[in-house]
Amino acid sequence: MSAEFLQKIFRTLGDPTRVRILLLLEREELAVQELMDVLGMAQSRVSRHLGILREAALVRDRRDGTFALYRFVAPDEDAWRDAWALARRAVAGDPAPEKDQIALARVLAARGNRGHSFFDAVGGEWDALRKVWGDELLRARALTHLVPPGLVVADVGTGTGVLALELAGLGCRVIAVDSSTAMLDAAARKIAEAGCGDIELREGDAEHLPLEDGEVDAAYAHMVLQYLEAPEPAIAEMARVIRPGGHVVLIDFTRHDRAWMQQELGVRHLGFAAEEIEAALTGAGLTNVCIDRHREATRGADLPETFIARAQKPD
Ligand SMILES: C[S@@+](CC[C@H](N)C(=O)[O-])C[C@H]1O[C@@H](n2cnc3c(N)ncnc32)[C@H](O)[C@@H]1O
Repeated sequence: MSAEFLQKIFRTLGDPTRVRILLLLEREELAVQELMDVLGMAQSRVSRHLGILREAALVRDRRDGTFALYRFVAPDEDAWRDAWALARRAVAGDPAPEKDQIALARVLAARGNRGHSFFDAVGGEWDALRKVWGDELLRARALTHLVPPGLVVADVGTGTGVLALELAGLGCRVIAVDSSTAMLDAAARKIAEAGCGDIELREGDAEHLPLEDGEVDAAYAHMVLQYLEAPEPAIAEMARVIRPGGHVVLIDFTRHDRAWMQQELGVRHLGFAAEEIEAALTGAGLTNVCIDRHREATRGADLPETFIARAQKPD
């Protein structure tokens, strides 16, 4: 392969606008005007890029009435194919090509003569496009507004009251329990600073919760089970203090081998197997057990997977 040949490949595909054009033409045959609308560029610029791509045999055009329609031609030479794969990877996740796909859907819908609606045109690409709204935290926050106001929740092992405050912010009445007075003091300070929320702090042990039978609608323990001698007695207590039809929600690590957590975080268990938690929940008389594993919540850190376990007390 000559140096000149290589230079031509890199010159052609090393330009991000040309890669954007190819990605569009790979999806749809387009007129120059349509490319101009999608890219927001003048005709002279779009035509110049198309000329270079046609010269490299990466696009082909045909006439349709007064229009020239352009489409992508998959390269059959290995070097071009590899370079195209590389160029595609290089722009993956860039905002410009993602926005182009949205603009493309709009342009295709505007053609009208094909009877496309915006969503007909988008079709299976929607999941990529919806990233525009894809703020996971925002979605989670929005979903929490489905919580019925006035729900009474026991936050078992509340720590410094972070989740108790969030629940109170959603209109829940929270009974926040912890065995550590230092943690409860910190929670009391934080709650006072926040100056809002219906939160009652109670000192007590997860194995003997300071709550009446059926006193709450839901009991919730976030990263607490791993600190207990065994999870079963606390789960049985949570089942006792919820009303019939109420829920228990547990969040903790799945079984792992990060022994450093024992020294540095004081945990007693290196997570739990889903079967172990399921057996404890059903053993406590709960039904509708559901356990989801969440890898993304801890992605990037040397942290194990988390799980969210839910179960319900029969009516
Ligand atoms: C990792 S912290 C989690 C705090 C809080 N749930 C959060 O997510 O921010 C664990 C908490 O469990 C509490 N805890 C440990 N053993 C407990 C027990 N037997 N009964 C009640 N609380 C306990 C600790 O005092 C600590 O506040």
